[in-house]
Amino acid sequence: MKNAAMKVKKAVIPAAGLGTRFLPITKAVPKELLPLVDRAAIQYAVQEAAAAGIEQVIVVTSRGKEAIADYFDRHLELESILTVKGDSQRLLEVRRLSEMAQMTYIRQPEQLGLGHAVLCASRAVGEEPFAVILPDVIVLGEPGATSQLLEVFHRYGASVIAVEEVLASEIQNYGVIVPQPIAEGVYRVLGTVEKPAPEEAPSNLAILGRYIFTPEIFDALARVKPGAKGEIQLTDGMGLLLESQPMYAFRLHGVSYDVGNPLGLLKASIELALAREDMGPALREFLRRVVS
Ligand code: UTP
Repeated sequence: MKNAAMKVKKAVIPAAGLGTRFLPITKAVPKELLPLVDRAAIQYAVQEAAAAGIEQVIVVTSRGKEAIADYFDRHLELESILTVKGDSQRLLEVRRLSEMAQMTYIRQPEQLGLGHAVLCASRAVGEEPFAVILPDVIVLGEPGATSQLLEVFHRYGASVIAVEEVLASEIQNYGVIVPQPIAEGVYRVLGTVEKPAPEEAPSNLAILGRYIFTPEIFDALARVKPGAKGEIQLTDGMGLLLESQPMYAFRLHGVSYDVGNPLGLLKASIELALAREDMGPALREFLRRVVS
């Protein structure tokens, strides 16, 4: 159980994908910077990491995504303008971005899959357990998704992945686990099936985009045979890791949104805006008017 006592200090955020579902906007703007009201989508992933006590966030990016680093960097000119104006609230918001975690950026030279993106971070992570947070999924609620997974990680001392129940009609869009229930909301993972037909799905528990891995995942990913397009899938790496180590799944508490496609981003934006004091009432009124 050496892992159980280890503090998880690093998180990897894979953000090198092409974002084709958002074209044409992603031709010029990384999808991770598309706004959820007035914050970049990726900010939620970094906030979640920081709230879980993660100290260093390693973002895996690619060509054309340099603005992600700008977003989390200091902007002294802007800060001094906001100071002169006395706009302390915006100043706080802007400063907070650079203070949440130590940010590191690594390039994935070619889009060779999520597993490959994680593998690109192996040197930066080293020989320690780490979190993976997909910025395409945001999970709202307290405690955050990564905090919930860390609690399970420290209980069992092995890799933990987040799952959520999905409808049978949706199951073919997800990676699904073969579960063995062992405690409330906790399952031993016996295997995974990628995008199963509803009648062949081993469960209704879909993999959600949050993981805590032991460092042996890197050896597993390095052994994955690339698929037809040269892609290295994370689920294939998990399958290899399962041959030598146990892995657990945790049914997350909280509401998740898939912000990796335009409709999902719109739904999440509306939910978030409705919850805000400064615009919630006006938006509710507007929605009532346009849908009637
Ligand atoms: P997706 O396949 O959902 O993202 O990958 P994508 O490729 O950007 O989206 P579409 O399908 O073209 O619209 C899930 C996550 O893995 C990252 C993505 O950035 C996203 O966070 N990813 C995927 C990489 O970092 N590298 C890859 O080669 C592939």
